[in-house]
Amino acid sequence: MPCNMESMNYTFTEAEKAEIQRHIEKYPDRRSAVMPALWIAQEKFGWLSNDAIRLVAETIDIPYAHVYGVASFYTMYFKEEVPPHLLEVCTCFTCGEIGGEEMLAYAREYLEADEKGRSKDGLFWTRSAECLGACDTGPVCQITNRRYVHRLTKEKVREVIEALRAGKEIPYEPIPLNDQSILDD
Ligand code: FES
Repeated sequence: MPCNMESMNYTFTEAEKAEIQRHIEKYPDRRSAVMPALWIAQEKFGWLSNDAIRLVAETIDIPYAHVYGVASFYTMYFKEEVPPHLLEVCTCFTCGEIGGEEMLAYAREYLEADEKGRSKDGLFWTRSAECLGACDTGPVCQITNRRYVHRLTKEKVREVIEALRAGKEIPYEPIPLNDQSILDD
């Protein structure tokens, strides 16, 4: 993810503009395209600076204030420059009772994180999450707005961190069969 502010050129490619246009055309109100457009901007620039938010507003042709309001409401949009990997550990309800807090603390310890939860090597940041909707397989961790890691253990925390350090993708982890039967009831 590019994050060098000095050299950042805040423009979309023709392909990115065309993708945003496709989103605009899906809805009766063009403002509805703001979330996918913000996502495209975040994927490209690494986080949503004011310049990136302005670019989204200009591209959709809606007020900056509207785009800023959406970007600032949702936690999956990053409003400051962040390390490339986010470990978001659920500490809510169920996960909080079965080790979520402990897993978050362990991840921070393993990463030698600072008081903001950012790792010493600059590659990771950590934060607690509200319920991620997978309470029956907690404690759960979400990796940078994407993959879930279920039934988190200290060993899994280390494995995930080292896999990401090695540039590997975190594989999809299917819900265990015995849990699936609960969902099917
Ligand atoms: S309480 Fe953690 S996923 Fe619901």
